[in-house]
Amino acid sequence: MPFIWTTTPRPIVALAPMAGVTDAPFRRMLKGIAPDVLLYSEFVSTNALSFGSRKTMAMLAFDPEVERPLIVQVFGADPKKFLEACRIIGQLGADGIDINMGCPAGKIISSCYGAALIQKPELAAELVASAVRAVSIPVSVKTRLGWDCAETLIPFCKRLIEAGASALAVHGRTYRDKFSGKADWEPIYALKREVGVSVIGNGDIVSAEDAVLKIGNLDGVMVGRAAIGNPWLMRDICYALRVTRSSFPGKTRNPERATRNERGQDGRAVSFAEKIPIILEHCELAVRLKGERRGILEMRKHLAHYIRGFDGAKELRVRLMKAERLEEVKGVLEKLFNG
Ligand SMILES: Cc1cc2nc3c(=O)[nH]c(=O)nc-3n(C[C@H](O)[C@H](O)[C@H](O)COP(=O)(O)O)c2cc1C
Repeated sequence: MPFIWTTTPRPIVALAPMAGVTDAPFRRMLKGIAPDVLLYSEFVSTNALSFGSRKTMAMLAFDPEVERPLIVQVFGADPKKFLEACRIIGQLGADGIDINMGCPAGKIISSCYGAALIQKPELAAELVASAVRAVSIPVSVKTRLGWDCAETLIPFCKRLIEAGASALAVHGRTYRDKFSGKADWEPIYALKREVGVSVIGNGDIVSAEDAVLKIGNLDGVMVGRAAIGNPWLMRDICYALRVTRSSFPGKTRNPERATRNERGQDGRAVSFAEKIPIILEHCELAVRLKGERRGILEMRKHLAHYIRGFDGAKELRVRLMKAERLEEVKGVLEKLFNG
């Protein structure tokens, strides 16, 4: 069955695209814990794809049996390159293409990619139209509230929809905010009231309760940073939102009541003993897909997050951060667990 935004089961719980994080090992590991999650890839360059960069092509590898639905996120600003790059992604069997119009990084903005497109709505619409022409899978956009205020959000998104965007994920901060302050979800609810396409809210969800409180009138929620080192959160959110929605079908929910009554996945914290096999599975996947040296090197940042808050022996934690081989990681985790 092809992936279609309007018919995919509600509420949608999406893993936010995160460069250097949401690669194939992370996505596969996550699907084992939370099978209902909608996956976004790391962002990939349409320029690099259009000239056949092997490194970028390698970033597109995914397991179609496990990593589904998978939305591949792209960035760039050249409609011709978008056409070529999106064709490649379509042929690889992705379920959707998402265009990054929210990244605030200096290098991205100076090339007129990411959030810079908020200031160029006509070019942004042209990129959407190019992607839509290239593929039969749906094209969506992930953006921010605006450049320096939320007033442009609705007209900007309406222009993207006219060009063919079938869903929008909105991070409740402006470009100027970068990652500071608190995400504001009110403009996202207002957007949903104005448009007919799927709208997903994003920003500062750190618990299942947050997701229940924030989903409002939206089609779904998207979670980024809080899933790093805590993929179990995604399972808790799926559970909490499903229970809440089925308790209040078609009604405006009272979120206070909902969170009191329905805790995520029975409200129990996952013990370190339960986490270890998943952490190891994540490491093994990284080693299998990227080779031992690179796989373990890239796993270090995840390992740091996995053991955050764990009061284990300091030197063991240091050893974990310096590990170069899978066996070393296994040994340290066992010692950490056994004390
Ligand atoms: C390490 C990291 C990498 C990110 N990479 C991307 C990216 O490639 N594309 C994108 O649209 N957003 C990216 N983001 C932004 C997230 O998708 C998300 O919008 C943001 O973190 C806010 O959500 P959160 O509060 O749930 O983390 C990234 C964020 C982080 C922390």
